[in-house]
Amino acid sequence: MRNDDSIQEILRHYSDVDESSRLATGWFQLEQARTQELILRHLPPAPATIIDAGGGAGAYACWLAAMGYQVHLIDPVPKHVEQGRAASAQQPNHPLASAEVGDARSLPQSDATADAVLLLGPLYHLVEREDRLVCLREARRVLRPGGLVWGAGISRFASLFDSSSHGFFADHEFAPILARDLEEGQHRNSTGSPLYFTDAFFHKPDELSGELLAAGFQLVELVAIEGPCCLARDFDRWWNDPAQRERLLAIARRVEQEPSLLGASSHLMAIGRK
Ligand SMILES: C[S@@+](CC[C@H](N)C(=O)[O-])C[C@H]1O[C@@H](n2cnc3c(N)ncnc32)[C@H](O)[C@@H]1O
Repeated sequence: MRNDDSIQEILRHYSDVDESSRLATGWFQLEQARTQELILRHLPPAPATIIDAGGGAGAYACWLAAMGYQVHLIDPVPKHVEQGRAASAQQPNHPLASAEVGDARSLPQSDATADAVLLLGPLYHLVEREDRLVCLREARRVLRPGGLVWGAGISRFASLFDSSSHGFFADHEFAPILARDLEEGQHRNSTGSPLYFTDAFFHKPDELSGELLAAGFQLVELVAIEGPCCLARDFDRWWNDPAQRERLLAIARRVEQEPSLLGASSHLMAIGRK
């Protein structure tokens, strides 16, 4: 596996940022609401066994455990696993089935024992295609026949949106990062600023779906998670108004499969069936 330098850089990045609070801020709330919607759209009823590989601090894992699912959290960042265990302890009637340090390319589960695998992180942090295929084949190995995988990708154009909406265009240090992202999809942050994220691969939509197919999955759907709504001006004001929030979600849903807009989203979701 050729991703070991990146794993060190990823560990360094997540020691500098608080992943456990990310989804509660700004347009990450849209990412979370849409991701939850896309998970529930296809998930079998509880109880079923779910592996959340790259589950971070447990936001989705604990949410699913609270609904009665048997959820196993795996993440290479020890801080995240500790945060996941602490969040699990806050819901003693519905704790996680397990929370362990590990890598999505080598899961501890036996063959054909899971109903669902979430890969909401590994497919963009594994910068080599061969490592992403190892990860997807590993998900396929642990799934029962008919089981589902959710693979999140970051769009090839995400840095362009951030340049516009957050003003990164003004930083000359960001210019070469943006240029390489657009050219190769290989995101590297040499500035040391946690604002500019860490080692990642940014997919074009058909690259993400193509990797699921190459790993032997049938493609259930490929959708934009946030769509162009992540560029909404005054996002917090919209989001905090329940009626406006529903409008935002309805618009994101309305264009989620529009081929000409798929890349115009910070995140993509490819859902596959074994
Ligand atoms: C931005 S966080 C996302 C966390 C959560 N899944 C979510 O969607 O909010 C990306 C996560 O992927 C994890 N990750 C990176 N490389 C991984 C790998 N090879 N195997 C498993 N997880 C990995 C990171 O440690 C981090 O917790």
